[in-house]
Amino acid sequence: MMAVTLDVQCLVKEFSSGRPAVDQVSFQIPTGEITVLLGPSGCGKTTTLRCVAGLEHPTAGQILIDGQVVSAPLQGISVAPRHREVGMVFQSYAVWPHMTVKQNVAYPLKHRGIERQVVDQKVKDALELVDLLEYADRPATSLSGGQMQRVALARSLSYQPKILLLDEPLSNLDAKLRLRLRADLRRIIKQAGLTALYVTHDQSEAVVLGDQIGVMNQGKLLQMGAPQQIYNQPSDLFVASFTGASNALHGTVVNHDGVDHVVELAQGAKVRARCLSAVSPGQAVVIAVRPENIVLTAGVAQGSLPVRVRQLQFLGVQTNYEIEVFGQTLEVTELGTLPRFEAGAAVFMTLPPEQCWGYPA
Ligand SMILES: Nc1ncnc2c1ncn2[C@@H]1O[C@H](COP(=O)(O)OP(=O)(O)O)[C@@H](O)[C@H]1O
Ligand SMILES: [Mg+2]
Repeated sequence: MMAVTLDVQCLVKEFSSGRPAVDQVSFQIPTGEITVLLGPSGCGKTTTLRCVAGLEHPTAGQILIDGQVVSAPLQGISVAPRHREVGMVFQSYAVWPHMTVKQNVAYPLKHRGIERQVVDQKVKDALELVDLLEYADRPATSLSGGQMQRVALARSLSYQPKILLLDEPLSNLDAKLRLRLRADLRRIIKQAGLTALYVTHDQSEAVVLGDQIGVMNQGKLLQMGAPQQIYNQPSDLFVASFTGASNALHGTVVNHDGVDHVVELAQGAKVRARCLSAVSPGQAVVIAVRPENIVLTAGVAQGSLPVRVRQLQFLGVQTNYEIEVFGQTLEVTELGTLPRFEAGAAVFMTLPPEQCWGYPA
């Protein structure tokens, strides 16, 4: 069996009466892997992370790090944060302004009473990993935001924590830097051989960084899986829409046909969809589909439906169409530098059944 570094079991955190901030969340992180918790603001990502770090006292559940119970409120177990051996990187660059880059990275090591020579070597290794060795003697405040975040990362790496916790570490950086640093981050965490829990609201960040992605909403962990699984077999309508299947088509199940269900939209217009949960004829369903998976054609195609282009937006390398299909509105994205259809055009739409996911309405 695969070794597990973090084991979160039925974690609950209630701040006051009302909906718990974290509601029965369970997941495991295999040793050496990166798990990303993805979800909108307020869904409970930071609270989950803080419970793992020991900065928040859970209401119920258990947390194990390296097989050791560090939190079990109902048994009165709560290991202090400094004894959990976790490293943390936050959204704000938590670097000490009055220190050099090297001193910042060395700080937690000196604090642990490690001898000078060993500290020097570990600091050098960590700075090398984040590609900041040549900045070692600069004041930390002379660095750019992206560099400061790498200093914070190096500081967390230098003492080799059992698990690295990262809370939206890229969200204060500009878009271009964010793209570059997210790929760097994965490489650095992997090279350091660390196990990591990373939280973000940004789906593209989650896909690039995570070995596993867990999608959260309203305190609940809805689905945990490899990025490809989250993107190709979303088990929940929220997971589908949050990861980009933003169109919702409403209809009624007619029957089951092989792997697909036939769903009637209106006036006899039928589409095929994959339903991961059990649905039966007559049941109302919502079909989630990505704007880039809908195919528009000028002429009728097999299984196509007549639709009308309401409006379009030309974005240079792609065109977004708003189309009307039997009274419902869908967004369609087409790559290419030339829009193919005009506003008002009567065209046809084909939906790939394997990319149409039905959920009980
Ligand atoms: N210290 C706190 N006191 C009361 N409510 C809190 C506290 N921290 C977080 N919450 C609430 O818990 C929920 C989850 O918050 P949080 O974990 O910060 O979400 P996320 O990090 O996903 O944006 C939110 O409704 C938030 O308002
Ligand atoms: Mg947060």
